[in-house]
Amino acid sequence: MKPVILDVDTGIDDALAIFYALHSPELDVIGLTTCFGNNTIEKTTRNTLVIVEMAGKSVPVYKGADQPLNRETRHIPTHVHGDDGLGNCPIPEPSREAEDEHAVDFIIRQVKERPNEITLIPVGPLTNLAQAIEKAPEIIPLFKEVIIMGGAVFVPGNVTPHSEANIYTDPEAAALVFASGLPITVVGLDVTMKTLLPQTVLADWQEKGTEESRFFADMTHYYMQAYETFLPGIGGCALHDPLAVGVAVNPDFVRKESWHVKVILEGEETGKTVASPAGEPKVQVCTDVQAETFLDHFLGRVL
Ligand code: BDR
Ligand code: CA
Repeated sequence: MKPVILDVDTGIDDALAIFYALHSPELDVIGLTTCFGNNTIEKTTRNTLVIVEMAGKSVPVYKGADQPLNRETRHIPTHVHGDDGLGNCPIPEPSREAEDEHAVDFIIRQVKERPNEITLIPVGPLTNLAQAIEKAPEIIPLFKEVIIMGGAVFVPGNVTPHSEANIYTDPEAAALVFASGLPITVVGLDVTMKTLLPQTVLADWQEKGTEESRFFADMTHYYMQAYETFLPGIGGCALHDPLAVGVAVNPDFVRKESWHVKVILEGEETGKTVASPAGEPKVQVCTDVQAETFLDHFLGRVL
């Protein structure tokens, strides 16, 4: 089992990613760290606690960053994830609370205690990871892998024509992380926009899923409608964050290329991820995905 920390801004597709990870025997989810992003840190942390509980697990949750490294929060996508971040579905309050330890300290401690073992999967803004490597740069060579859902390297953005939401939300954090030399795999819109959950499959899931999984299908309906509004005729919604988990479970779902990636920090292209063949450090950019194989695997685990 691969020890992983999932860094989330829960969020509908984050919730699906958590549910998928917690039902994947290849992964040992040792903790979830939370970040602001799809909602405030209070709501993303509460949502994470609720989802873990709904999945019937007791993995600890660590609350993290409540704002970008050094700018104001500009973007809370309630139109995509609902006012509560989970599609405004009726859900209970969590019975547990977040741990006392801060997310950043939890990441630092785990990586130091288990050198070259931990896979970190950030699927929200990169603020917690940036703070961790600023506070303890000695952990940079101690990660096994960092699988980031974020960026739009060779394709258009989703929050602006240039930028993907997680990078746009805290571009300075992303710039620091991409320049750090961490062993990064980038699961960006290049592959996640090819990894759609079709409307017909969701309808089937809502009807036939287990009692536990039907909540996730109902929640996803909200997200599906948002996709149909922005991209009429798309016929599905993107499984962004679940694909990052999928790459941790089975790297063969994707094809990767080695590129130097930097993040634009100013002007109308703020948050754009720009690849060049020259320059160091290199990161592994996912450029293609076996979308159907992944979708079957995801559904096999969550249905
Ligand atoms: C990313 O942005 C968030 O809204 C989603 O949860 C996902 O992590 C997609 O651009
Ligand atoms: Ca997310």
